[in-house]
Amino acid sequence: MPFEESGSRSNLYYSFSVAGVHVVMLGSYTDFDAGSAQYKWLHADLAKVDRARTPWIVALLHAPWYNTDSAHQGEGESMRKAMEGLLYQARVDIVFAGHVHAYERFGDQCGPVHMTVGDGGNREGFALTFEKPSPPISQFQEASFGHGRLRVVNETHAHWSWHRNDDPDSTIRDEVWLESLAASRACGVSLQAHAPSTSDEL
Ligand SMILES: *[C@@H]1O[C@H](CO)[C@@H](O)[C@H](O)[C@H]1NC(C)=O
Repeated sequence: MPFEESGSRSNLYYSFSVAGVHVVMLGSYTDFDAGSAQYKWLHADLAKVDRARTPWIVALLHAPWYNTDSAHQGEGESMRKAMEGLLYQARVDIVFAGHVHAYERFGDQCGPVHMTVGDGGNREGFALTFEKPSPPISQFQEASFGHGRLRVVNETHAHWSWHRNDDPDSTIRDEVWLESLAASRACGVSLQAHAPSTSDEL
C-alpha cells in the first residue's frame, strides 16, 4: 500500500489524490482514538487537502459507521465516535464501507453520504435482516450481490449508481446525484482552499 507518500507510518491507513478526488483509506482494525497515530495522521492529512485541486474527498473503511442490518450491528460505532468529527469538519463527501454482506445508503444534508457496499459476493451468504421500519437517514437497503459505480463528472457533481448483479439485463437499483460539500453554500461553508496553519500541526 502506498502509505509513506502520504506521511503515514502504517500501511493500514493512507491517502492519495487522483483526478480531483482525495481518497482516504482508514483502518477499522487498528487504533483510532484521539491519541492514536491514525487519528493524528488523519487530522493532518485532511488539513492539507486543497479543495480547489481535489474538490472531492472520499473515505473508505471496513466496518460501517451506519448500519441498520442486524449483521455486524454496532461494530463500527467506537470508530465513528472517535473519528466522525474529523470527517464532518473536513466536509468529506462520501464514506464507503464493506463488512456487511448487503448494500445500504445513508444520507444526511451536510454530512458525508455513507454507503455500505459489502455485496460483492461471498460464501457466507447475505445479511438479510434490516431494521423495520427504516430510519429516515437509511435511504436504500438491499441484500443481493451487486456493485457500485462512482462517476465524478466535474468539481461539483458526481453520480453514484448501484447495480444488482442477479438480473439478466443490466439493472440499476439505486442511483443518486451527489454535490460536493466543498461547494455547498447550503451547508454554510466554502472550503475553496485550505492552507495548513500551524494549529493544524500535531
Ligand atoms: C457539472 O455537472 C453537472 C451535472 O452534469 C452540471 O449540471 C453542471 O452544470 C456542471 N458544472 C460545470 C461547472 O460544468
